[in-house]
Amino acid sequence: MSIGHIYAQNLTKHFRHVQAVRGVNLDIAPGEIYGLIGPDGAGKTTTIRMLAGVMKPTAGTARVSGFDVVHQAEKLRHHVGYMAQRFSLYGDLSVRENLEFYADIFGVRGAEREAQIQRLLRFARLEEFQDRAADALSGGMKKKLGLACALIHRPRVLFLDEPTNGVDPISRREFWDILSDLHLAGVTIFVSTAYMDEAERCSRVGLMYQGEIIQQGTPSELRQLVRGELIAIVTDDLITTERIVAQLDGVSETQAYGDRLHVFVDDAARRLPDIERALRAANVRVTQIRPTAPRLHEAFIALVKHQRPPTADN
Ligand SMILES: Nc1ncnc2c1ncn2[C@@H]1O[C@H](COP(=O)(O)OP(=O)(O)OP(=O)(O)O)[C@@H](O)[C@H]1O
Ligand SMILES: [Mg+2]
Repeated sequence: MSIGHIYAQNLTKHFRHVQAVRGVNLDIAPGEIYGLIGPDGAGKTTTIRMLAGVMKPTAGTARVSGFDVVHQAEKLRHHVGYMAQRFSLYGDLSVRENLEFYADIFGVRGAEREAQIQRLLRFARLEEFQDRAADALSGGMKKKLGLACALIHRPRVLFLDEPTNGVDPISRREFWDILSDLHLAGVTIFVSTAYMDEAERCSRVGLMYQGEIIQQGTPSELRQLVRGELIAIVTDDLITTERIVAQLDGVSETQAYGDRLHVFVDDAARRLPDIERALRAANVRVTQIRPTAPRLHEAFIALVKHQRPPTADN
């Protein structure tokens, strides 16, 4: 089995009453950026913990770079980088001291230690801030420092659990530019995220729902799973609009986003005039109405909605 390869078969984790991860299969090639998407509680963190060798599965097997996640967990932990969802930095230590701390934990010593710290400070664009206490960093800088700490031992596989959660868009973009550099360097990246624009940057995406990966594919493959066409309506009366439109012929589904309603129809050109007419008749003011291309976002919501309801023994 080659370095950077991630493989899981029937990976399963039960907590007392919760089936957190249910029979997950993965086969991720070296150098991929694999994105794991799913709602709160879907099982993303639990999956990542098992793959990173920090939590034992209830059943199933997984290998990362050929290391068995149970029987070779110790070796595995030195081979992979893992940035936990709630990773901890030492707030009163400086940026540099945090890196030194992780270097010591991972046995990065001597000239290699200093060279690697310098490299990572540059890489994470934190050079100017190296003497600042971690607590005094902005949210985005903390995430970059967390990433730098996870990279201290030059891992060939990187697990990132919602690494940009709560970070502003500009910092998120910068963080992803750093991930792109790692991707170019051949690191396999396994990342969970709630942001669909980030999912678009992955080579493949898995949609996790209630402990299972219910769909998997490239972002464009997943977008193509959306059946029918999409019409976007901007209106100041979303509730009435949704109520009226949902009853019309050819409408399969509606999704609300702020002041915008996305309407799934069988044929946008044919249904658009009907929708306009029905809204006009109800005196609903429409600021904009036009056919639009489905995004990954719509695909996911539609896929999750059409998933069977949870069974009673969940
Ligand atoms: N240590 C634990 N003990 C008991 N139940 C747990 C434990 N860890 C997770 N769970 C439960 O397992 C399920 C999956 O949790 P997990 O944290 O893996 O989901 P997640 O997809 O990472 O969610 P989030 O988006 O909120 O981070 C949830 O129902 C959670 O409550
Ligand atoms: Mg989580």
